[in-house]
Amino acid sequence: MFAVNPFAELSALISPSVMQGYVVLMVILVVVGTILDMAHKKSAQYFFENAEKAKKNAKRTLSGGEKAGLAVATLANEVLTSAEFKVRPARRYSHLLTMYGFIIFVATTAWLIFGYAAESAPAGLTAMWHIGAIMLCLGGYWFWFFIRVDVSSEGVKWYNFNGRGDIFIVSLITMGTFALLWSFTASMAMFVLFVISSTVLFSTVFWSKFAHMFFKPAAAFQKRCIKADGSYENLPELGELSDPAIQAKYPDIPEYMGENPPNMGPGIKREAPTHY
Ligand code: HEM
Repeated sequence: MFAVNPFAELSALISPSVMQGYVVLMVILVVVGTILDMAHKKSAQYFFENAEKAKKNAKRTLSGGEKAGLAVATLANEVLTSAEFKVRPARRYSHLLTMYGFIIFVATTAWLIFGYAAESAPAGLTAMWHIGAIMLCLGGYWFWFFIRVDVSSEGVKWYNFNGRGDIFIVSLITMGTFALLWSFTASMAMFVLFVISSTVLFSTVFWSKFAHMFFKPAAAFQKRCIKADGSYENLPELGELSDPAIQAKYPDIPEYMGENPPNMGPGIKREAPTHY
């Protein structure tokens, strides 16, 4: 089942150059959507102005080596292992499945279409295409039914679709699902639904959350830089609350919390928000 190359079977109906043209068109749509999104939200402008401001407030200048170290740490933590979700392991594992499933599925689709659109492909490659789609579905359905904040915390029913907010996750899940159904049944209807889902996913970047996969790594890197250079977004750096120097600077700390402020506990990590 996993050894089938559905694109080779499709090539009897649709020529490989049309399939390749479709892939190129989707890449262009993602690039254009991301650029329009940045221009509309002025996020790049904000990001660079904010970085300039941080540089002015910096207590020390980071060397090239330190910045490279922070970039590696960002890659190893926030990007490759979804470390921003570490307080919620379920969300982290669901994100990892969705992210790696998507990357594997997209890379093997391009490989199959550009390398083996009209012939059988190596079994390892077709297996990876199916495994990518399955991982994408597992992570995506897990998120949709159990983790999505409106469902898990706000009592919204799983079948309520919140337009722009959900278009990314819904088109991801349907793309993975119809790709598998198409491969397993060779049904044209499944193929058409697969193409509709993937076209929606890649053509709605301007409105959806798609571009977060480019923005989040930049934001995570910047967050590490402002901590390392001491600029802290212009917020006060609160050291040890029992430190007399800190207490002299912020006298309301000893006034409300005593000379030896207790550990404030896990705070928002205490429990999942389910009080709807
Ligand atoms: C490459 C493919 C990726 C896919 C398919 C993907 C998928 C997703 C999905 C489905 C969500 C939930 C969106 C929603 O709330 O509806 C999400 C959220 C999130 N992703 Fe990704 N992601 C990817 C890459 C990344 C990368 C590289 C990072 C970080 C460096 C990242 C960080 C996040 C964060 C922090 C959230 C939570 C955002 C929020 O709740 O506002 N993602 N991602």
